[in-house]
Amino acid sequence: MAHTIQQRLEELKRRNAAAAAGGGPERKERQHKEGKLSARERIELLLDEGTFEEMDRLVTHRCTDFGMEEQKIPGDGVVCGYGRIDGRVVFVFAQDFTVFGGSLAEANAAKICKVMDRAMQVGAPVIGLNDSGGARIQEGVVSLAGYADIFLRNTLASGVVPQISAIMGPCAGGAVYSPAITDFIVMVQGTSYMFVTGPDVIRTVTHEDVTKEELGGPETHTTKSGVAHFMAHDDPDCLSLIRELLSFLPSNCMEDPPRQPCSDPIDREEPALDSIVPAESDIPYDMHDVIQHVVDDGYFFEVQDHYAQNLLIGFARLGGQPVGIVANQPAVLAGTLDINASLKGARFVRFCDCFNVPLITFEDVPGFLPGTQQEFGGIIKHGAKLLFAFAEATVPKITVITRKAYGGAYCVMASKHIRTDMNYAFPTAEIAVMGAEGAVNILYRRELNGASATDDRRKAKVEEFKDLFANPYIAAERGYVDEVIQPRQTRRKLITALCMLENKRDTTPPKKHGNIPL
Ligand code: HXC
Repeated sequence: MAHTIQQRLEELKRRNAAAAAGGGPERKERQHKEGKLSARERIELLLDEGTFEEMDRLVTHRCTDFGMEEQKIPGDGVVCGYGRIDGRVVFVFAQDFTVFGGSLAEANAAKICKVMDRAMQVGAPVIGLNDSGGARIQEGVVSLAGYADIFLRNTLASGVVPQISAIMGPCAGGAVYSPAITDFIVMVQGTSYMFVTGPDVIRTVTHEDVTKEELGGPETHTTKSGVAHFMAHDDPDCLSLIRELLSFLPSNCMEDPPRQPCSDPIDREEPALDSIVPAESDIPYDMHDVIQHVVDDGYFFEVQDHYAQNLLIGFARLGGQPVGIVANQPAVLAGTLDINASLKGARFVRFCDCFNVPLITFEDVPGFLPGTQQEFGGIIKHGAKLLFAFAEATVPKITVITRKAYGGAYCVMASKHIRTDMNYAFPTAEIAVMGAEGAVNILYRRELNGASATDDRRKAKVEEFKDLFANPYIAAERGYVDEVIQPRQTRRKLITALCMLENKRDTTPPKKHGNIPL
C-alpha cells in the first residue's frame, strides 16, 4: 500500500511517542511516587543539556510466548545512546522499570551490547543506569544469554574505557555481576538494592530473617560488603556524582586524565603541616587533614569513604592534574592494613594504573592487623593484592611517609623497592622493621626478663631503639627515601615531581597477563 509523505511522518511520530511513553503514565507515576525518576529523565540530568542522541529507539522484542506479541513497546525497556558530559562523549543505557519491570531480554540486551561495542570502538566511557527486575521471565534462557553477552563486554572493556554503574532500583540475581565488573558503583538511598539471592530464599535456606534494605541496600554495600563505592541521597545526586567522578578520568586508557585550570598556588606552603603529626608515635591524627592541606583547593573526592576507613582512597588535583590518593588513616585501627583495606586499596591502585592517573601515597602504617580473624580470612593473599597492585603499576608514583613505615607494610605501601618514582619522608618518619616496644621485647627478652613497661632499664632500651631506628635517615642514607622534606613544602614537592614525571614510560615484561593473588 502506497503512503503519502504525510502518513509516513505521522507513523514516525506515533512510534516515537510510543517509545517516549514507555510503560504508560500510571507506571511512570508509580515510579515518581517511589522517589525514582524515569529512564529518560535520568539521562537528561546525567548528560550536558540537549546532547542525548538515542539509538535503537524503535527496537522491539520478538517473543511470542505468554501473549507477549500483543505487548510490544518500542525501545523494549531500555533507553540507549550517547551524549556528552562536560563536553566529552559518553555512552549510556538506562533501564526503564515501567516496561516489563526493566527486565533484560534478547532485544534490549542487544541494544546494551551495541552501545558498549561502539563505546569501545571510539574510546568513550559507558554509564549504566540499572533499574530492573532481572532476566525477563517470558524469554527464559534467551534473557540469560543476553546477560552473558553483557558480562563478556564488561570484561573486555575493563581497563579500556571507564565503566560506571548506577543502581537506581532493584538489581538482583546474576544481574549484579555486570555492575560488579564495572569500575565504580553508585547506589541510591531508599530505592536501590543489590543481592545475589533475596530475603525469601535466604529465609528458606538459612532461616535468617533479613530485609531487602539490610541485605543489599546502599548502607550495607558502602559500609559492610564494599561492593558499592558511593551512596547518593536521590537520583539527581547520583547523576551529578557520576558527572563529577568522570571529571577526574580520561575517556579511555590511551588518554591522560583531563587537566583543569588551577588557581591554588603551586608553591603554597602550609605551616600547619609541620605540626600535624603528633610527636608521640601512638597518638592518632586524621590523615584527611594532611591530604586537604596539600591538594588543590583542599578538595578530596573520597571513594568508599564508609568502608575500611583505615585506608583512604580517592581523587584530587595537584596543579590542576588529577591524581589518585591512597593513604593510611592513623585515626582508624591505628592505620593498620587489614583484609578490607587491602582489597579497597588494590582495586583503586589498579584502576588508576589502567587509566593513567598518577598515584600519591601518604603513609603512616604500623603493619598488618594481627589476629586469627585476619589470618583465617587470608590476610596473606589479600595483603599480597595491594603489594602486587603497587608493584605492577607503571603510572607516576610518589610516596610521602608522614610517620610509621613498619615491616612488610613499609614494602607494600609504594616503597622505592617496588619502583615508586619519588619517595619523600617527613622528619617525623619512623622507618623500621617494627615499633620500638615490639623490637625491645624480642631483642632483650632474656636480659629484661619480664620487666614492666615502666622499668627504667626497659625504658632506656626503648629510647635507644627509637634513637637508632625510628627516623627517616637510615632509609635516606641508602636512597630508599629520595628526600626528607619539611612538611610545609609537601604540595610544591609533589607538583614539581609530577611535572618531572609527566612523560614517564615504564613497562612490565611481555606476558599474557599477570596472576594477581585473587
Ligand atoms: C518480566 C517482570 C520481571 C521480570 C518484574 N516484571 N520483573 N517482567 N520479567 N523479571 C514486571 C512485573 O510483572 C510488573 O509488570 C512490573 O514489572 C513491575 O513489577 P512489580 O512486581 O509490580 O514491581 P515491584 O512491586 O516494585 O517489585 C519489583 C521486583 C519484582 C521486586 C523486581 O517485580 C520481582 O520480584 N520481580 C522478579 C524478580 C526476579 O526473580 N527476576 C529474575 C531474577 S534471576 P506490570 O505489567 O504489572 O507492570 C535473574 C537472573 C539473571 O535475573 C541471570 C544473569 C546471569
